[in-house]
Amino acid sequence: MEKTIDESKQGQSLVLEQKEENTKKLFIESYGCAMNFSDSEIVASILSEEGFNTTQKLEDADLVLVNTCSIRDKAEQTVRKRLEKYNAVKRVNPKMKVGVLGCMAERLKSKFLEEEKIVDLVVGPDAYKDLPNLLAEVDEGRDAINVILSKEETYGDIAPVRLNSNGVTALVSITRGCDNMCTFCVVPFTRGRERSRDPQSIIEEINDLWNKGYKEITLLGQNVDSYLWYGGGLKKDFAKASDMQKATAVNFAQLLELCAKAQPNMRIRFSTSNPQDFTLDVIETMAKYDNICKHIHLPVQSGSNRILKEMNRLHTREEYFELIDNIKRILPNCTISQDLIAGFPTETEEDHQDTISLMNYVKYHFGYMFTYSERPGTLAERKLEDDVPEAVKKRRLAEIVALQVEHSAMRTKEYLNTEVEVLIERESKKSNQEWSGRTSQNIVAVFPKEDYNVGDLVTVKINDCTGATLIGKAIGHSKNDTKDVTSSSAERS
Ligand code: SAH
Ligand code: F3S
Repeated sequence: MEKTIDESKQGQSLVLEQKEENTKKLFIESYGCAMNFSDSEIVASILSEEGFNTTQKLEDADLVLVNTCSIRDKAEQTVRKRLEKYNAVKRVNPKMKVGVLGCMAERLKSKFLEEEKIVDLVVGPDAYKDLPNLLAEVDEGRDAINVILSKEETYGDIAPVRLNSNGVTALVSITRGCDNMCTFCVVPFTRGRERSRDPQSIIEEINDLWNKGYKEITLLGQNVDSYLWYGGGLKKDFAKASDMQKATAVNFAQLLELCAKAQPNMRIRFSTSNPQDFTLDVIETMAKYDNICKHIHLPVQSGSNRILKEMNRLHTREEYFELIDNIKRILPNCTISQDLIAGFPTETEEDHQDTISLMNYVKYHFGYMFTYSERPGTLAERKLEDDVPEAVKKRRLAEIVALQVEHSAMRTKEYLNTEVEVLIERESKKSNQEWSGRTSQNIVAVFPKEDYNVGDLVTVKINDCTGATLIGKAIGHSKNDTKDVTSSSAERS
């Protein structure tokens, strides 16, 4: 299972906000994590000032940008295949320019220009504000590259153009980079050191989204619980901050509270949490505000203490259980999901069984599981041999996926004959007669459309389910729906 915000969005490029005076066409597509999807919205916003509107048709594009992911080898191969496709289109439309953004751009730098002749432009995740200059160079016939990582850049001052938007849910980035140095992970190398965004600009973005009709936001970061605003600068330099800066610093629990209070009817989600930085005050803040969604994505990677140590995950399995127990005690309605890696170097059958027993303890609602993929330049690549045979990795992955499927089915069944609150996001993929939305717990629910609309918050009685999806019937607008129910029923009659 690949991790994406929504599998169906991969590679798509929809258009919502356009400027009439813009004459050039940008085709932008994103692969990988939610942060890439969010960054593409920032890029579209920067380029909209440069005369570009977005298009969904690759063939029509003057400029094609692909926002890339390096997390596993497979993700990079997917991008290479897309470049072949662009090449075919460029043969028909030789004026089309092609740029590579994101983590592969940062990892491969100028090698990209050498390896892939079709690429005109290589731009790392912190250099998007330089795009206008880089494009000017490309227009003059030169290849252009900027892969400088920044200490400050958070794009806090840019209002993203919402791509792929259903008009209901939006991504809001709060931190960039990561300082954790998990030994398997390429992110600290491609996205740089961790820095947090000014809470004021986060709140302004949320207010603006609410005014535009959005009903749910996801606060994004590689490691959101480590959010710390003390006036700007890298997280690692906090120790050098003045007493005043320290006294007025805002941590993640405080930011969550600020967001929840700023828009009390906006649903608030966040992703991703690292167990080592997850604090009790975050759980308590979640308990205090109804509008903070009751779902925690809490990647654990492995259930073995020895492997956790090799991965430089700075907690033990016992500490993880304590955290899970606290979540279950303080937030009994909260769902928990995982990321797991099968076949990390030196992983034995016993280590693998520790992962199985950890899963049996938590019984996650859902998860994203991967075989270990060695990434060039990471600590694991430099220090450890990738010694678990591919067939063994795959077999272990199949075992944990099968167990997760079992747990998901069991967890989903717990909702049978209950009433859940669902925010309608889109038409169901399976039927145009049904809506699809999510519960606060991030479980997908589908039900007949009747007279409800996208963006409505409805109460749904669950009478059936598949492995991971709830099936039911809406029994009315939820008491928390901000829509004027009387006027909408008047419209209907
Ligand atoms: N903190 C990040 C994690 C980034 S990577 C976030 O916001 O999601 C997402 C997941 O990919 C990780 O949790 C891990 O399970 C998996 N992953 C990362 N590097 C990997 C590698 N080299 N091989 C296999 N899986 C990997
Ligand atoms: Fe990667 Fe670990 Fe950071 S998984 S993104 S180094 S928390």
